[in-house]
Amino acid sequence: MNPRPRNFKAGKFKLTTTQNLIPSDDDLFRTISRGMPGSAMPPWGHLPLADLKALVAYVRKIHTDAVQSELGAGVLAGTYSAEEVPTLHDDRTQPGQPIIVPPEPKVDYLRWFNGRRLYTEACASCHGPDGHPLPEAVKFDDDGFPDPPRSFVNGIFKGGMEGPDLFCRIMKGMRGTPMPASEGNYSADDTWDLIHYVQSLARSGSQERAQLRQSTISAPSVPGPLPTGPTDPIWNQARPVYVGLTPLWWRDDRIEGLVVQGLHNEEELAIRLSWLDPTRDDRAVRVDEFRDAVAIQFSLASDPPFYMGDNSEHGGVNIWMWKADRQKNIDSGYQDVDAAFPDRVTDMYDECPIRAQDMTSVDWAHGALTEHNSTYITAWGAGNLVADPHLKTPVECLVAKGPGTLAGKPANVQVVKGQAVYQRGVWSVQMQRSLQLPHDCEHSATAGDERVFHSGDFLPVSFAIWNGSVGDRDGKKDISIWQKLVIE
Ligand code: HEC
Repeated sequence: MNPRPRNFKAGKFKLTTTQNLIPSDDDLFRTISRGMPGSAMPPWGHLPLADLKALVAYVRKIHTDAVQSELGAGVLAGTYSAEEVPTLHDDRTQPGQPIIVPPEPKVDYLRWFNGRRLYTEACASCHGPDGHPLPEAVKFDDDGFPDPPRSFVNGIFKGGMEGPDLFCRIMKGMRGTPMPASEGNYSADDTWDLIHYVQSLARSGSQERAQLRQSTISAPSVPGPLPTGPTDPIWNQARPVYVGLTPLWWRDDRIEGLVVQGLHNEEELAIRLSWLDPTRDDRAVRVDEFRDAVAIQFSLASDPPFYMGDNSEHGGVNIWMWKADRQKNIDSGYQDVDAAFPDRVTDMYDECPIRAQDMTSVDWAHGALTEHNSTYITAWGAGNLVADPHLKTPVECLVAKGPGTLAGKPANVQVVKGQAVYQRGVWSVQMQRSLQLPHDCEHSATAGDERVFHSGDFLPVSFAIWNGSVGDRDGKKDISIWQKLVIE
């Protein structure tokens, strides 16, 4: 991940409101419950209050234990005397007095001008003259990793963008990072002018949208057939819910979120997912081509771990992954290999009859294979579903029991249907499956891993989007936190 998760032992907490930069319980509580927008750290505000408090205490204990053993080693090495240890320990672990934030003055043009003046003088060299950091402004953190200054125009602040948040960050800097402290440089009024100027640079609503939230997606029951595709007006009967996403590897150029809807008709469940993506990437033939894709993850547990399940009895997750290139291949009937490699050298001979009889039939107009023989498509012959030309769905069904355990399901459980429309920069994808498992896969060896649905279910779901044009694949993607899906 980038930024990497904080090392609690080193204790360089970035988001603090105390004079000595050691976080108060409130500081840790806020970071854990709100998460850190602009990184993959998700919010945990949905946990019970007692759990959040226990987490605060435990994070602090990791740090204080580390300080304790470091001081112990220092005594052995003769760096400190045993008598100094309690004071040194307190100095390094006890939160100091809170920073007092002076009252916020009103903004006027004169003050805005002053804010801009101070900014240009003190901040622009890193954060950029207009709030977009220049590429050469990337600095390194204490551990030697690149730590770019925040883009104020993109307006996503790890510690929030309210006046008091920015006051503490500007006064004290951010520990372990190149962000300097300005304490002593400015009067209270000057600091407020700077804060207001920084806030005025941010795109309206950017911080709000980057804040991951848990929402409830209701899938009402409709009489009769489900929508025939993602543009069917029957979708108007389902309330849309916006779900924010975050990349695991942070980047400003990202898919910010998607809109989710659900419907069922007592037999089948349909989900529609829509998101903005200015480029349509539906070919993944060349090594440097990546596809657009979207996935829904259903948990078998009611209280799942953060990411892709775990090894416990009901810790598994089901994933339905729609892929743009599979959709195009199914819709058009062939893989566009010739368009990807117009100058490719071929070892197949048009005039040679053996091909048509023994291996495959070829549609010469398109240069495409229309019939296949698994003897000659070895991945398929070996049972790899990805290479199976008979699979007629753009949605792949997968299971996972923890990161790194993702596996495809057998062919008879590949039963999720999918359809997609790309119009004016918007992907809309509909995925659909029977609430129960179809008859012939109920007794499959892996049917127990498969989520079945009932009306009245209230289950955790989450989402992921891959944007092919920026090279997304595998873990390089934008993800949501768990949402709730209600099958009404
Ligand atoms: C030497 C380069 C440098 C200078 C000068 C600098 N900053 Fe920063 N600033 C950074 C870096 C790097 C970060 C990102 C730190 C991180 O999150 O790891 C940052 C982050 C921030 C943040 C984000 C806080 C958050 O919650 O995410 C604010 C606000 C900020 N700077 C304000 C300022 C202001 C105002 C000035 C001028 C008084 C300033 N900075 C000067 C390098 C700089």
